Amino acid sequence: MGSSPRAVVALAPPVESRIVQRVTERADEWFPGVGGRPLVTLRRLAERPRAVLYAVDVGEGTGRRPLVLAKVRRGWSDAAEQAGARPRLAPDLLPASEQTAIEFAGLTAIHRMFGDGDPDFGAVRPLDHLTADDIILMEYVDAPTLRAVLARSHRLSSQRRRPPHHRGEDAWRRAGTWLRSFQERMPGDGLPARQASRDDVVDRFDAFGSFLTGRLGARAAGDAARVGARLAADVLPERLSLAVGHGDYAPRNVFLSGDGRLTVFDPLFRWRVPRHEDLSRFLVAARLQAVQVHTRGLAYGAAGLDRRERAVIEGYCDDSDDGPAVQLAELRCLQLLITLDRWSALVDSPSRGWHARVRKASLHRASDCFRDETRRLLLLVESDPG
Ligand SMILES: Nc1ncnc2c1ncn2[C@@H]1O[C@H](COP(=O)(O)OP(=O)(O)OP(=O)(O)O)[C@@H](O)[C@H]1O
Ligand SMILES: [Mg+2]
Repeated sequence: MGSSPRAVVALAPPVESRIVQRVTERADEWFPGVGGRPLVTLRRLAERPRAVLYAVDVGEGTGRRPLVLAKVRRGWSDAAEQAGARPRLAPDLLPASEQTAIEFAGLTAIHRMFGDGDPDFGAVRPLDHLTADDIILMEYVDAPTLRAVLARSHRLSSQRRRPPHHRGEDAWRRAGTWLRSFQERMPGDGLPARQASRDDVVDRFDAFGSFLTGRLGARAAGDAARVGARLAADVLPERLSLAVGHGDYAPRNVFLSGDGRLTVFDPLFRWRVPRHEDLSRFLVAARLQAVQVHTRGLAYGAAGLDRRERAVIEGYCDDSDDGPAVQLAELRCLQLLITLDRWSALVDSPSRGWHARVRKASLHRASDCFRDETRRLLLLVESDPG
């Protein structure tokens, strides 16, 4: 048998022991029935560029599920700080402490909106914010993300099978409905706005265009940014309709439970953004999954991608009493902008040492995929100008 749990705690790094301590103290209040000062153990779940995540087990016995998820934020890497080279939609990067506070407030807001037995949507229950260490404690959600569910079905996946709860496009439609409902309910008073005007959007097209052309050359970068700037000038109103932005609305930040409910997480409500931005971001993320980009479109077939895209848009438009919820031309314009934003991020990602050469080849392939996607969007605009 291993050492006693108390001994493990004594030797654990400070951040981990502070998580154990806080959960031990408050578990009985958060999860009535687990008893006072239960055994608490941590398992490192994931190491993300900006965060380390732990699953926290509470109580003894086999077969139990973690009850708590601890997310410990890290600051920006030097590479990201120095980047500055790459144009972004947001003008600055926030320090870890502010991001953590905003994320905790965001989880709380979503929980207030959707945490009360909604038949379609769940919410992560926020538990605690340990400000000194940039730690958020929240309830553990035992469900795959929408991206993980989708990944099981792609042509190169070894687990190509449909889990019972993933039928057709229901979850995708629901992701659109969630966004609409969130935008209607989430007050944005006091939040600053970005890309609020047509000129701001044109300016970002120009910035992404110069960056991509400078890094990749005019041929590889194509003319999507130039055409996008013209499109923005033609189709956008002078002032765009705004809503609170989720921060990173994407299939990887949505859990899909066995009963079909969606739970959106990883919020960062920092800005009011064009109302079509999050919808665009979700569609772009769904289409340009890494596996798709790096196989130049081999992983997912066009028909399925199109079906999912339509389902998200339809879900967003459902129950719209006051005219069309989506201005198609505006949506395509923002999809194009977000595609260029992600393409720029990929081009700007650091490459050091031996894999720089491998990366160059794969960047070339990925850029082909991004360029194909910009062409698809521009053709859509031509065929249905909205
Ligand atoms: N409450 C939770 N319950 C269970 N697992 C979770 C929970 N929150 C996060 N995770 C897991 O940790 C992963 C990363 O979480 P999160 O998205 O909050 O971090 P991130 O650093 O923003 O990552 P990414 O850049 O992939 O969005 C999620 O994909 C999910 O698998
Ligand atoms: Mg995330």
